[in-house]
Amino acid sequence: MTKRILTGIQSTGTPHLGNILGVILPSIRLFKKYVNTKQFVFIADLHSLIQQNDFEQIQNNAYHIAAAWLSFGLNIEKTILYRQSDVSSEVTELAWYINCCFPYNRLILSHSFKERSKHDKTKINVGLFTYPILMAADILLYNAEIIPVGKDQLQHIEITRSAANKLNNKIGKKLFVLPIPYFHKTTMLIPGTNGQKMSKSKKNYINIFSSDDNLKKQIMSIKTDNTFFKEKKNPDTSIIISLYKLIASKEKVDKMKTKYLQGKYGYLEAKLTLYKCLIETFSFERKQFTFFINNKSLLDNILYSGAKKAKIIANQRLNEIRKNFRLKEILNIN
Ligand code: TRP
Repeated sequence: MTKRILTGIQSTGTPHLGNILGVILPSIRLFKKYVNTKQFVFIADLHSLIQQNDFEQIQNNAYHIAAAWLSFGLNIEKTILYRQSDVSSEVTELAWYINCCFPYNRLILSHSFKERSKHDKTKINVGLFTYPILMAADILLYNAEIIPVGKDQLQHIEITRSAANKLNNKIGKKLFVLPIPYFHKTTMLIPGTNGQKMSKSKKNYINIFSSDDNLKKQIMSIKTDNTFFKEKKNPDTSIIISLYKLIASKEKVDKMKTKYLQGKYGYLEAKLTLYKCLIETFSFERKQFTFFINNKSLLDNILYSGAKKAKIIANQRLNEIRKNFRLKEILNIN
C-alpha cells in the first residue's frame, strides 16, 4: 500500500512561527520529497473544543490554519486538506473503539493531562483526558504511517502506536499500522518571546501574519538581559539570536554575533534587524495569507473538496474496521 503521511494543527489560533518552522514547512518539504505518498493535512477543530468556548473563533481559526498551509505552498492537487469536524462521525466512532481497548491506567500518565490536571482538577473536562485517543483515531482512521509533529507530540504518537497494537490484538488481525513520528531538528529549538518554547497557551508566540505594527510589537517584547548599550553582549544566551538563526543566513547571523561581542550594539537594533528579516523572508507568504483570508469562499471550496475525499477514505476504512468487530456496515441513507 502507498505510504500515508498525515498531520494536524489544532484550531486554537493563527499558526505562529513555531508551528510554521516546526510543522508546516517540514511537512511541505516531506510531501514534495515523497511524491508517491498519500498526504493528509487536517485542522483539528474538535480538539479545540476542549479548551475553547468561542465556537466562532474556532471556525475562524480554521480558516487561518488553512490559509497558512496554502500560503506556504501546500499542493492541494496532491494533499487532502480537511477539517476534522467534517469527518467527525467517522473519527469519533473509531475513537470509541480505541477507548474500549486502551488501558485507563496508561492514559492517566499522559503528560498533557498530568500537567493540566495538576493545577485544578475541577476545571478540566473529560475531553482533555481522552485527547490522545481522538488523536490516535485521527491517525489510525487513515492508516497513516508518517506523522510530522512537534516534539511535544511524541508521547501522543507513542499512545497511538500502543492503541494500534491493542486494536490489532483485540480483533486478532494486523489491521492498523504503527505510525512513526517525523520531526525536524529545529522543532525543539523554537523559543518564544520569553525564551520558553513558543506556544499559543504561553502567549509568547510570534505571529508572522499579523500587521507590520503588531509583528514589530511582538519582536520588541522579546526578553533581553539588562546589559547596557555600550557593553559587550553574550550571543549564546540571546533569544533574539536564537530566533534570527532560524531564518537568516549563517553570514548574517555571524555578523550579528560579532556586533554583540564588540559592544555598542543595542538590543533594539538587533530586534529591528530580526523584524526586517522576518518581513523580508515571509513577504510572499504574508501576501498570500491576506489573499486567502479575504477569499473565504475559495477556502470553503478547498475544504469542502478535501472533506469529500477524506470522507470517502474514512468510510471505507471504518467499514473494514466494523467488519472486524462484527458490526454492520455504515448505512448510507442518501
Ligand atoms: N495534538 C496536535 C497538536 O496539538 C494536533 C493533532 C491532533 C494532530 N490530531 C493529530 C497532529 C494527528 C498529528 C496527527 O499539535
